Amino acid sequence: MKKIRTSRIATAMVGGITLAVTIWAAANTAGAAKMLDGAKVYAANCGNCHSERYPSERTDKEWSMIVMHMQVRARLTGDEARAVLRYLQANNKDNRNQGTRSDE
Ligand code: HEC
Repeated sequence: MKKIRTSRIATAMVGGITLAVTIWAAANTAGAAKMLDGAKVYAANCGNCHSERYPSERTDKEWSMIVMHMQVRARLTGDEARAVLRYLQANNKDNRNQGTRSDE
């Protein structure tokens, strides 16, 4: 009895996560047209004083702190800074080896 319940809960959870990811992906696609392209804002502003950092070098938390500081240096608007942060956080997921670059 207990086993059946556990597996039902697990199935429901997997379903819920799948649904959440689907909704998130759809929302992302729908909103993309209206949003600034973080990759472009990043490329245009974040390599002027130092070389561009790879998104995979930092964690989400670190990026939010760094962008807060670098927004001032790069004189970005709030929207631009948010776009850059979105871009960096969206592209750091597949590399958890913080601080390493593939070309170094
Ligand atoms: C006006 C020059 C300037 C611009 C533009 C600039 N930076 Fe920086 N950045 C610096 C300097 C100077 C440092 C090193 C000193 C420091 O950490 O404050 C730095 C450091 C960094 C670091 C390392 C921080 C750490 O704690 O190791 C990262 C990552 C970074 N910048 C990202 C960015 C991003 C992302 C942008 C675009 C939003 C950007 N920078 C735009 C001047 C700039």
